[in-house]
Amino acid sequence: MPEARRTATITAVGKYLPERVLTNHDLEKMMDTSDEWILSRTGISQRHIVAEGEATSDMCTHAVRQILKKKGMDPSEIDCIIVATITPDMLFPSTAALVQNKLGANKAWGFDLSAACSGFLFGLDTATRFIESGQYEKIIVIGADTMSSVMDYEDRTTSILFGDGAGAVLVEASKNDNEGIIDSILRIDGNGGQYLYMPAGGSLNPATAETVANRDHYLKQDGRNVYKYAVKGMADITAELAERNNLSSDDITLFIPHQANKRIIDASAQRLGLREDQVLSNIRNYGNTTAGTIPLGIADAVEEKRLRPGDNVLLAAFGAGFTWGSMYIKWGHVI
Ligand code: COA
Repeated sequence: MPEARRTATITAVGKYLPERVLTNHDLEKMMDTSDEWILSRTGISQRHIVAEGEATSDMCTHAVRQILKKKGMDPSEIDCIIVATITPDMLFPSTAALVQNKLGANKAWGFDLSAACSGFLFGLDTATRFIESGQYEKIIVIGADTMSSVMDYEDRTTSILFGDGAGAVLVEASKNDNEGIIDSILRIDGNGGQYLYMPAGGSLNPATAETVANRDHYLKQDGRNVYKYAVKGMADITAELAERNNLSSDDITLFIPHQANKRIIDASAQRLGLREDQVLSNIRNYGNTTAGTIPLGIADAVEEKRLRPGDNVLLAAFGAGFTWGSMYIKWGHVI
């Protein structure tokens, strides 16, 4: 008999949300908005915000420590740490290096990956290839963003959407044909960059008194265009992936989409022909945590015992770049 193919599979998940909660009613006191407007346009009721001095690497470290505790694993067993984020603690060193040090993962290497809301998916796909190659056994993939650090709370259309949070998964090898990360489609199109970006702070527009005065260190967004492309991008790519894996809508146990707006989630799910119980939505409590949304969704699905071994799970993301993608996972034993 030929030896079973070595696949990559998620074996554990961890999450972290900062203690402080910013509700829609809190925002009503900060700007001209209402709980009713925010909830009806976005499905968001509250979001978590870091404490002063708390940064992305802290959230990542908390999430990974949960995994280590659940698995009874020593940090020295980690081979590689991939941190998907657009809000690193600093431009360099990488947040992965800071997390490695905080964890004491003394045999790991790692790097940051910048793909905005699709970052976790891009990182998970990269980890899959690393595991399949046979070179590594245990890879930590983290999606984490401190969006409050780049939010302009004078921009009421954008600032109400985002929150802070981190999720992490452990990816290991499996020889069980009936589990693992089976397939993915990933895309990038720089033509979408104009709709969602942060103008200053990079090599093009380094920080000056003028960039600060112009509020150029905050995220800028053309919400309507992003909305339009996000629904089409996520739905089309997920449909393409489902079709090439012969999955009908009834075969899909759970769809875990990026959480940008409840209306985007609902429209994508509708185009895929999915019922509400087949779709994970936690945006009401967390808002859009950018790279954090999908691992936080996985963590909540595991916590709520919504998945069993052998279930078909589809992940989907869309974000700045534009970047987008979808991934098909045959669920294994995830703690
Ligand atoms: N509170 C109250 N009113 C608000 C408001 C707020 N927080 N923000 C905007 N408005 C007002 C606008 O001023 C506008 O008023 P007007 O008609 O008098 O000019 C009205 O509400 C409609 O604004 P509009 O921008 O057209 O709203 P929208 O229905 O497009 O919703 C978003 C705005 C941002 C919620 C929506 O476009 C969206 O979710 N886009 C996708 C964003 C996203 O997901 N980004 C991340 C992708 S990874």
